[in-house]
Amino acid sequence: MNVLMIGAECTPFIKTGGLADVLGSLPHELHGQGADVRVVLPKYEDMDEKWKSKLTHVDELHVQLGWRNQYAGIEYIEYEGIPIYFIDNEYYFKRSNLYGYDDEAERFVFFNRAVMEMITQLEWKPDVLHCHDWQSGLIPVFLHTHYKELEKFQGIKTVFTIHNLKYQGTFPQSVLHDLMDLDEGMMTEEGLEFFGGINFMKGALNYADFITTVSETYATEIQTPYYGENLDGVLRKRSNQFLGIVNGINDKDYNPMKDDTLHFPYRSSLKKKQQNKMWLQEQLGLPVRKDVPMIGIVSRLVEQKGFDLIGRVIDEVLYHEDIQIVLLGTGEYQYEQMLQWAQERHPEKMSTNITFSEPFSRQIYAASDFFLMPSRFEPCGIGQLIALRYLSVPIVRETGGLKDTVSPFVESTGEGTGFTFANYNAHDMLFTIRKALDTYHDKNSWKMIIKNIGKSQFSWRDSAHQYMDHYQSMLLKSGG
Ligand code: GLC
Repeated sequence: MNVLMIGAECTPFIKTGGLADVLGSLPHELHGQGADVRVVLPKYEDMDEKWKSKLTHVDELHVQLGWRNQYAGIEYIEYEGIPIYFIDNEYYFKRSNLYGYDDEAERFVFFNRAVMEMITQLEWKPDVLHCHDWQSGLIPVFLHTHYKELEKFQGIKTVFTIHNLKYQGTFPQSVLHDLMDLDEGMMTEEGLEFFGGINFMKGALNYADFITTVSETYATEIQTPYYGENLDGVLRKRSNQFLGIVNGINDKDYNPMKDDTLHFPYRSSLKKKQQNKMWLQEQLGLPVRKDVPMIGIVSRLVEQKGFDLIGRVIDEVLYHEDIQIVLLGTGEYQYEQMLQWAQERHPEKMSTNITFSEPFSRQIYAASDFFLMPSRFEPCGIGQLIALRYLSVPIVRETGGLKDTVSPFVESTGEGTGFTFANYNAHDMLFTIRKALDTYHDKNSWKMIIKNIGKSQFSWRDSAHQYMDHYQSMLLKSGG
């Protein structure tokens, strides 16, 4: 089974969000299960010199973009047994940010087309092209148009995974002709047409052989208008070739026993966990108290993650409850301000850190008793999975992957791994936080919940199995 993964970011090379974690860990598990998996990414300026200096130049080709020909270098590195290709073009990718440019359409039409050209040159034939998010959404479209007749592409199947339906890659119609070399015929409901323009993600949803997203609940949610971002109709139409497969985490990497960013490694000892808490309190200038419940928040500060709910009740929480909140993340100015002011008003209880650092984030997971993630929507979410691994009890809204990975604690049965609420409502969240704090002070219940968490597991093994099954059945169906 040969699988080529195509996406816009991948750890440890380049990361802005959860997609990078998936591309950085799923291939290893698939590889372990016997697949020959390779990954292809744009070569960004932002990549660490440590990696750039290790790349070898393996090929160069020319990519047709409308009436122009653009150069693409192919560079290569093998990382922990996985071959990784990079598409190099300094004009498109030697920029200070990954995304957000005026010529975004051109940059990613180029990337998709360059990947197709690269495949024609490789001495290796993929069975499956597995594309992730809109930045690789044109691969299935090109496969059915420009590359349809080519020998090399016969029998190849495509999988498209939605990591976040909110970002779709929508552009003016002119892109179709000027950059993609396709004609008006694609401006249909079955093609790329979207409110008079074109939509890369819609193209992928229409042309991919199989569609997945990163949790079962999100797969159901996005087939409804509330979560569907105007593509719910397309997804409903394809519901027979669409399903949710929950993400895992790399549990070797996220392991509180072996995490060298922690000063007090632990497996299940709450005492050692408390030492991490006291260490962090000291670092952050918070009162050093092992008995005070600490809530951790590690997140991009954007609307999706529920910061308007937090803003609504943060004063109430900080005035009335004996707690500490430690926050880490960057994002929208309004939320950064709101959280900074909260710290100014309650410096003994709130530590707001508007920055991001991987070691710092792990120290928060290790130190905190709770992890708060009240997302408005959440395709899968990784924070709650790391929190579970570090025995920080999640408080989450029941949406998407949060619902699928955190089960509500029920005192009478002693089951459950966290605290959850259903409605996107600040007072429901507040009520749930209070319930969580009560449970914290009830030693027996607390022991139970920690024990339940210890038994849960979120490695990639089962999910990678499911991907393998679907790759195989797709190929069988076509007699390949
Ligand atoms: C996106 C989603 C997040 C998911 C990640 C990886 O970042 O917002 O929920 O965990 O992709 O699939």
